[in-house]
Amino acid sequence: MFDTMTLTKAVGSVCAALLILLLSGWAASGLFNVGGGHGEDHLAGYVIMTDDDEAVEEEEVEEVPFSEILASADPADGEGLWRQCRACHVVEPGVHGVGPSLHGVVGRQIASFDDFSYSGALESMDTAWTPEELNAFLENPRDYAPGTAMSYGGMRDVEDRAAMIAYLDSLDE
Ligand code: HEC
Repeated sequence: MFDTMTLTKAVGSVCAALLILLLSGWAASGLFNVGGGHGEDHLAGYVIMTDDDEAVEEEEVEEVPFSEILASADPADGEGLWRQCRACHVVEPGVHGVGPSLHGVVGRQIASFDDFSYSGALESMDTAWTPEELNAFLENPRDYAPGTAMSYGGMRDVEDRAAMIAYLDSLDE
């Protein structure tokens, strides 16, 4: 069994170890200004650059809101992509082809032409073509509106979709 002295020594050495750990941590943070810092610590001997900043930026790229991608999209790129749509759509106001006119479609109520016979898939949607809705529709029309009459495979690249929407939005300016 432990006698009191052994126990005291044991507790004492654990405390000492903890103290050394704390002290060395404190000393290191004074000596090395980890992360590049902003210069408040005048004792800093070294500046250690970590990769943390870059890692954070990469994660953010995946989460950029669509509105931001759209803001930097070039309508001219969208005009180039228009060939994927023009077999079925025209951009002149009120002129329909296989699909309805896309003039002024951004912000327009979904399936809103009386003189175009939409499929029930679009007609049942009670919302407007916001850029976000268009983004989802163009990525995969049949996933977005199961049963839609628009037989178009979809545009995979979000930047292409943003350019397409920027182009459509520029038509009625
Ligand atoms: C194969 C023909 C075809 C192609 C290609 C096509 N569409 Fe369509 N599109 C249609 C049809 C048909 C509809 C009506 C869908 C329905 O009623 O379900 C439609 C509907 C739409 C609507 C909804 C319009 C409204 O008034 O609610 C949008 C937006 C649209 N298309 C955008 C595009 C874009 C952008 C492209 C090119 C990237 C494209 N479409 C390519 C046939 C096509």
